[in-house]
Amino acid sequence: MDITILFKKNLWTPGWGEISLSAFIIALISGVLLIPFFEPSPDPFKSISIFINYSALNHLLHSLHSYSGDLFLIAGFMHTFEYIYKKSYNNYSFKSWFFLILLSVFSLLAVFSGFLSIGSKGSFSAISIVSGILYRLSVLGTFVSEFLFPNERLSVIYMHHIATFTILSIILIYVHIKKLRAESYALYYTLTILIIFSIAFPEGIGFSPGTPLEVIKGPWYFIGFQEMLGWLPVWIAGLLFPFIILIFFSILPHIKEKGNEILYGFMLFTFFYFAESIIGYFFRGDEWQFLFR
Ligand code: HEM
Repeated sequence: MDITILFKKNLWTPGWGEISLSAFIIALISGVLLIPFFEPSPDPFKSISIFINYSALNHLLHSLHSYSGDLFLIAGFMHTFEYIYKKSYNNYSFKSWFFLILLSVFSLLAVFSGFLSIGSKGSFSAISIVSGILYRLSVLGTFVSEFLFPNERLSVIYMHHIATFTILSIILIYVHIKKLRAESYALYYTLTILIIFSIAFPEGIGFSPGTPLEVIKGPWYFIGFQEMLGWLPVWIAGLLFPFIILIFFSILPHIKEKGNEILYGFMLFTFFYFAESIIGYFFRGDEWQFLFR
């Protein structure tokens, strides 16, 4: 299969980078519109339930915000894939490459912290998984865990969502492309797709925090990770695996390759994570038991 088709910019499709930027801007605007209705404490889940059940328009705003975060990640991933395919990493200085890696990390954190803030059963489950892994990193991990969600206080992770991670992402996007405005065509294109999607598949908010289930599936990008934690030791799935990815991306511009080894490595990793996500999503039950024995 010719994969260049994935990156072709036709007359009617903006590039992945423009779609990602547009989705980010839509997430910012819809997020600001949600502020007055969201109460991060004492019961964020209840405040969103009331909000989305109040009217279809409210539900649309919630779905738009949530899906724009998803699209931001998906388009950002495709944009990275394109970079790797075109070997663009060879043209980067150490400093600009370092900022790009930071951008990827903080983008993921911006989206993930949104999911954690809503206070569903899935949010608390994800917090306990992540803090359990962080505590294994002794002093540094404990510090990061306390910084992100001290005593599982969701108002703190919410502040990181709308301030720390969002602002850092804005700064790093600016450092990367020297602008913060998407082409209006790309913005309308992305907005139209997101609105159609939000109307067709209104986004729920998951299980309430009181649901008597042990393990809850996290958001789509987290499920592959949960699946790995199910069969690999925590230090491999939770620490070594993310560490290898970070190292891989960090040294990319310095690797002198002859063929397409980096592209194949990246595709292999993507395929592996995709397969893990499919197993976690379709073949695991509510208590993470294997469904087809
Ligand atoms: C000023 C910036 C932002 C504000 C004020 C804001 C506000 C909010 C609020 C109030 C919620 C909980 C209510 C709800 O989900 O309907 C939320 C959740 C969320 N936010 Fe944001 N947000 C901002 C930026 C972003 C950005 C930049 C992204 C992604 C690129 C993002 C992605 C998400 C996601 C994925 C959720 C979880 C939605 C769900 O799972 O249902 N937010 N945000």
